Amino acid sequence: MASGKGGVGRMKLGSQGLEVSVQGLGCMGMSAFYGPPKPEPDMISLIHHAVRSGVTFLDTSDIYGPFTNELLLGKALKGIRKDVELATKFAISFADGKWETRGDPAYIRSCCEASLKRLDVDCIDLYYQHRVDTRIPIEITIGELKKLVEEGKIKYIGLSEASASTIRRAHAVHPITAVQLEWSLWSRDAEEDIIPTCRELGIGIVAYSPLGRGFLSSGPKMIDNLSNQDARKFEPRFQADNVEHNARIFECINEMATKKGCTPSQLALAWVHHQGNDVCPIPGTTKIENLNQNIGALSVKLTPEEMAELATLADAVKGDRYGSGVATWKQSETPALSSWKGE
Ligand code: ATR
Repeated sequence: MASGKGGVGRMKLGSQGLEVSVQGLGCMGMSAFYGPPKPEPDMISLIHHAVRSGVTFLDTSDIYGPFTNELLLGKALKGIRKDVELATKFAISFADGKWETRGDPAYIRSCCEASLKRLDVDCIDLYYQHRVDTRIPIEITIGELKKLVEEGKIKYIGLSEASASTIRRAHAVHPITAVQLEWSLWSRDAEEDIIPTCRELGIGIVAYSPLGRGFLSSGPKMIDNLSNQDARKFEPRFQADNVEHNARIFECINEMATKKGCTPSQLALAWVHHQGNDVCPIPGTTKIENLNQNIGALSVKLTPEEMAELATLADAVKGDRYGSGVATWKQSETPALSSWKGE
């Protein structure tokens, strides 16, 4: 691991030359899904603090807000664009009360142009398809992203919530630099196929929700503080019966963290950091003190025995990661290219 600013190291993400901070910053909660948007000046200060501390890999999406999170980043990055690695995403749209996932070329192009404007940058470092459009062969989607690379509008291509076979097909069209997936002490379903496939193909792994959307940090007490605008209120793992059961997972993390003299968040993040130097967790936070704490996770060392003890926790989780309306890698197979008749 190369050293970076503020003690936060640097790592190669994927095999195409992208270098990022070993821990990133998930920006979603600053503008969307986790309660009301947070005050813009505070969030800009937080982003500046992160970058000064060496957390330079910033993660957003056009659907966060929608659009307001990218606009926030656009403002925050004035004068510091060259100091960050900027990742954003397309594919999920919400219009007329309806969610839709799209991966057709015209849509990708219009999303990319719009994100560049909102972010007020010439180029996006890492552009992910946020969810796979199961109506469009993945080769068609990646083909358009490849053109955007050739035109200099994006530098690297990523996928999020894609199955192993979709990743393989995509990578054959143009190298995929990173796959973003949920990976944490209570979400380990990607370990069976997706992570080994990424490793075989030299694709970097970006772990989102490494703190279990805050549950692994704070346990059941966080439920009482969720506003009605908070998407977690409607997610299976955060429903009362499941919370009561999942509390045990938090208690185990808390007990080990107390013994080790770190916080539960730091232990949960350290577990992800220990998965390999090809893995970059991107914890989301809206608070400087939590960001500092999360950076502290890089100093937490776990023994093989502690790793093994923590590895059993996910078996006990009750409730799916998402409700039935949200697509995951399990719904990410696309039609064969040979069946494609065009748009
Ligand atoms: P996501 O990827 O969906 O953002 P996550 O990174 O697993 O999910 O967790 C984000 C949640 O953890 C946020 O609710 C965040 O709350 P704050 O915005 O109040 O920080 C919470 N969180 C992040 N770091 C934390 C820490 N060190 N201690 C307690 N909660 C933390």
